[in-house]
Amino acid sequence: MDAPPILPPYRIKVVEPIPFLSAEDRRRALAEAGYNPFNLRADQITVDLLSDSGTGATSAAQEAAAAVGDESYAGARSWFRFCHELRELTEYPHILPVHQGRAGERILFTSLLKPGQICVSNTHFDTTHANVKLVGAEAVDLPCPEAADLDSHAPFKGNIDLDALEKLLTGPDGHRVGLVLMTITNNGLGAQPVSMANLTAVRDLCRQHEKPFFLDAARFAENAWLVGQREPEYRDWTPREIATRAFQLADGCVVSLKKDGLSAIGGFLGLRDDGLHAACEANLIATEGFSTYGGLAGHDLERLAQGLREVLDPAYLRARAASTARLAQMINDAGVDTVQPAGIHALYLNAGRLLPHLSPGEFPGHALGCQLYLDGGIRCAELGSLYLGGMNDEHRLVTPAPFELVRLAIPRRVYTDTHFEYVAAVLAAIAKNPERVGGYRVVSSPPLLRHFKVRLAPADEKDVE
Ligand code: F0G
Repeated sequence: MDAPPILPPYRIKVVEPIPFLSAEDRRRALAEAGYNPFNLRADQITVDLLSDSGTGATSAAQEAAAAVGDESYAGARSWFRFCHELRELTEYPHILPVHQGRAGERILFTSLLKPGQICVSNTHFDTTHANVKLVGAEAVDLPCPEAADLDSHAPFKGNIDLDALEKLLTGPDGHRVGLVLMTITNNGLGAQPVSMANLTAVRDLCRQHEKPFFLDAARFAENAWLVGQREPEYRDWTPREIATRAFQLADGCVVSLKKDGLSAIGGFLGLRDDGLHAACEANLIATEGFSTYGGLAGHDLERLAQGLREVLDPAYLRARAASTARLAQMINDAGVDTVQPAGIHALYLNAGRLLPHLSPGEFPGHALGCQLYLDGGIRCAELGSLYLGGMNDEHRLVTPAPFELVRLAIPRRVYTDTHFEYVAAVLAAIAKNPERVGGYRVVSSPPLLRHFKVRLAPADEKDVE
């Protein structure tokens, strides 16, 4: 007998209906949304792969804990439970709760970075990049060279380029570096993990040059799982042991718990330095809430404390990784390339290769994302020239992004393999006849974080809105 499939360690007892719209209703909905899936209503979407953030299912144990959440303004029981979980996991003496990751970014960068300084990363996530800019600092990405080959199966394409980092630190701009921030896993670059060897080398360089070293650890559990699978020295470590070791290597962390916290909302800052903690705490109290709730309700803190335990269960991580890998296989079999090797929280479709008849200025990634919605009610996000490219005042693309990708983010514990078979089938039909996918042009665009609010029109439709 073949090995049985890897089973998720749970069954489903609460469900939510999903909408099915006609092709005509989807066409109308997308046009009304300015051809930007961020503007669609959730009740217009059949399979929502826009984000893995805050979109997961909670467990019975989480909901039971939430029912006894303590909503005291200060010193709530739920806070102590949350803080205890995170102290045990990270071994940082200071934990500050925030309502989500970007609030933590703002508080940390305001306290740590000065205008003109550089924050250097393997890759900044988009809000992280924006928050660095908002304090007047510069965000520099130094991804490892293997990341540039989307097809390579190198195991740790999320790593930072250590040579480039050392060059920056020892070069004329070295004194401007105010923070080194490692994103685990590397969401901006194909959900690729970062190795412990790379984190250790970054720690050593930061010590040598007396620079603070932080983790953006939104997917700390998934990174730990991939380390256990791909880095031989860690084969016998548990995901929890690997995660704790990663936190230990850094001086602190900023974490969105909307991902591996298995909850709809939440985040935290983990800090070692007393002075930095005092500065961040003052900012937190002024802007988020008292330092024992940080913008979260007691019931949120309870769900998070329980979620932090469940997310490190090897059976859960194994099943989640296997499910994403299976979807990747189905998509690849359908003739659509994805960034290799498959990560866990998302798959990145190579739209540039699938739609060579579209120029970067017609946004092939965005066009593929729109087609997935038009053909199957599937929502996802472009990661290509619309998101990363340089544009002129007429909204024309002047500097294309290096790749034209589409991210299919996988919510935790939400969709079954049948949903994924559906996604693969819709993609397969597009891949059979890719020339029918038309391009888009930008009609209006905000100055920062363009992809969230941009409005577009089909490239062959001349009417301006
Ligand atoms: N850092 C990383 C690596 C992220 O992926 C995100 C969010 C954040 C920080 C910000 O956290 O949303 O809680 O404020 N990523 C989501 C995504 C939105 O879809 O990838 P947040």
